[in-house]
Amino acid sequence: MVSLRIPLVAALVVAGLAQNVAQAIDLDLNNTDSIKAAASTVADGMMKFYIGNLPGQTPGLLQPPYYWWEAGAMWGQLIEYWHYTGDSTYNDVVQEALLFQSAPTKDYMPVNQTKSEGNDDQLFWAFAVMSAAETLFPNPPQDQPQWLALAQAVFNQQISRWNPELCGGGLRWQIYNFNIGWNYKNAISNGGLFQLSARLARYTLHQTYADWAEKVYDWMAQSPIMVTNSSSYDVYDGVTTDHNCSAADVEKVLWTYNIGTMINGCAYMYNYQTNGSNVWAERLNGFINGSSVYFPNGDVMDEISMDQCQVTNACTQDQPSYRAYLARWLATTTQMAPYTFNHIAPLLQASAKGAAGQCSGGDDGKTCGRNWTSTEWDGYTGVGEQMSALSVIQSNLVSTAAAPAGQDNGGTSEGDPGAGIVDPNVHDMRPITTVDKAGSWVLTGVMLLVLMAGAISMGYGDD
Ligand SMILES: *[C@@H]1O[C@H](CO)[C@@H](O)[C@H](O)[C@H]1NC(C)=O
Ligand SMILES: *[C@@H]1O[C@H](CO)[C@@H](O)[C@H](O)[C@H]1NC(C)=O
Ligand SMILES: *[C@@H]1O[C@H](CO)[C@@H](O)[C@H](O)[C@H]1NC(C)=O
Ligand SMILES: *[C@@H]1O[C@H](CO)[C@@H](O)[C@H](O)[C@H]1NC(C)=O
Ligand SMILES: *[C@@H]1O[C@H](CO)[C@@H](O)[C@H](O)[C@H]1NC(C)=O
Ligand SMILES: *[C@@H]1O[C@H](CO)[C@@H](O)[C@H](O)[C@H]1NC(C)=O
Ligand SMILES: *[C@@H]1O[C@H](CO)[C@@H](O)[C@H](O)[C@H]1NC(C)=O
Repeated sequence: MVSLRIPLVAALVVAGLAQNVAQAIDLDLNNTDSIKAAASTVADGMMKFYIGNLPGQTPGLLQPPYYWWEAGAMWGQLIEYWHYTGDSTYNDVVQEALLFQSAPTKDYMPVNQTKSEGNDDQLFWAFAVMSAAETLFPNPPQDQPQWLALAQAVFNQQISRWNPELCGGGLRWQIYNFNIGWNYKNAISNGGLFQLSARLARYTLHQTYADWAEKVYDWMAQSPIMVTNSSSYDVYDGVTTDHNCSAADVEKVLWTYNIGTMINGCAYMYNYQTNGSNVWAERLNGFINGSSVYFPNGDVMDEISMDQCQVTNACTQDQPSYRAYLARWLATTTQMAPYTFNHIAPLLQASAKGAAGQCSGGDDGKTCGRNWTSTEWDGYTGVGEQMSALSVIQSNLVSTAAAPAGQDNGGTSEGDPGAGIVDPNVHDMRPITTVDKAGSWVLTGVMLLVLMAGAISMGYGDD
């Protein structure tokens, strides 16, 4: 199969030339078939980066420099792709990946990953299986772990890592103290646990999960990670624990997915609480309003911090994918809190138009770059670029798709409230190497700058 790839790429080049390269992707947002066709093209471009299903490769993983977490994020994106478009092309590959990367302990602590795995990394796999449960993605065979139970396993493990000794609570970024970032409590780990708890509450209708969503939210709101007052809602990247999460130690860099996870979690809590709670609506409105900073140009989503790091080639391999998560979480928000649709839909429309216009690069004239306000391809390419474009394009189908299911309205995934509670000694604790440390999410750092420089130059390949 590997050798087939070369003629395939050559064929694409010829086809691209014949049809006039750099034409970008056609997208008529008034036409669901056009949206589906555009999504299909971009998904196909994304999956050119995946070879884990070929003989001799490891199912579920992307090739370096992509880390384990981003593969989990990609499977989640493809579950939504199937849900929104009805195209099941990738379903078998997705199911194989999600099961292969689950551990013998029926959780997302696979031995090859645990030693460098962060809480946020684990959450992106949990989001994927949660989406599988919510969209009625085909259930695994009975002898395999089930989607809901896998999500519950991640929840159980994360609440066991809750750390009230420092900063009055919060999850550390890292799971193990030998990893860089152990002394950092970040927005995506905590906001991710908040979102997962809210989704589990809504799916199972068990109050325990809602109580945890409240607890995580309350901790974040009193920490300097989040600003939630009458005039602004902001989510910063995180804060070190060195001085008990003092406001002076907050890392104020802004990323789309950090506010995205709060928007989505609030929307699920709003939906879960049928007592007419205005509390979650108020928070949801605050974060949606706060997210306007990421739509600076005519409603087109922009990763503003990436615009800055690009100047010095300091962006990581992870960052181009973040817009995928804000887009997908905004889309689900319109289902969990339908009154938000009129505000959110124009943002998804303008951003999808922008993304499709930027998908005009590569040999096929359809490879996606980063700059959604330009129809001239900016030369970047990668899983994150494809995933972000895919997400924002397919999100425009949200009004045609079923809202996330729960156990009271059609959800069929089997749960296990005690999943994931295992002897901690079971997990691999081999000493970490330098390369593994770089495998975690890092804000900035020499190691990543070096990796990124390599990744950008490598990024121009056909794969
Ligand atoms: C859909 O069509 C209407 C009328 O033809 C047009 O005004 C509108 O801009 C279109 N919307 C999009 C998102 O293209
Ligand atoms: C772990 O790594 C080994 C060696 O590369 C590989 O054979 C195995 O399939 C991997 N397992 C997972 C779950 O990735
Ligand atoms: C650390 O911060 C928490 C939460 O803000 C606070 O409750 C606690 O008193 C602080 N501890 C110390 C030693 O300052
Ligand atoms: C809201 O929080 C921001 C950031 O901490 C602060 O600058 C602003 O003054 C606060 N506004 C109000 C009304 O408290
Ligand atoms: C909404 O956002 C704008 C600009 O981002 C800000 O000036 C305003 O105070 C926000 N309003 C609320 C209620 O948060
Ligand atoms: C709604 O119900 C939940 C769960 O009982 C409770 O925690 C929350 O405070 C209630 N909200 C309001 C606004 O009454
Ligand atoms: C994106 O393209 C627009 C239009 O050409 C340009 O003004 C802007 O500077 C570009 N953004 C980045 C980050 O390069």
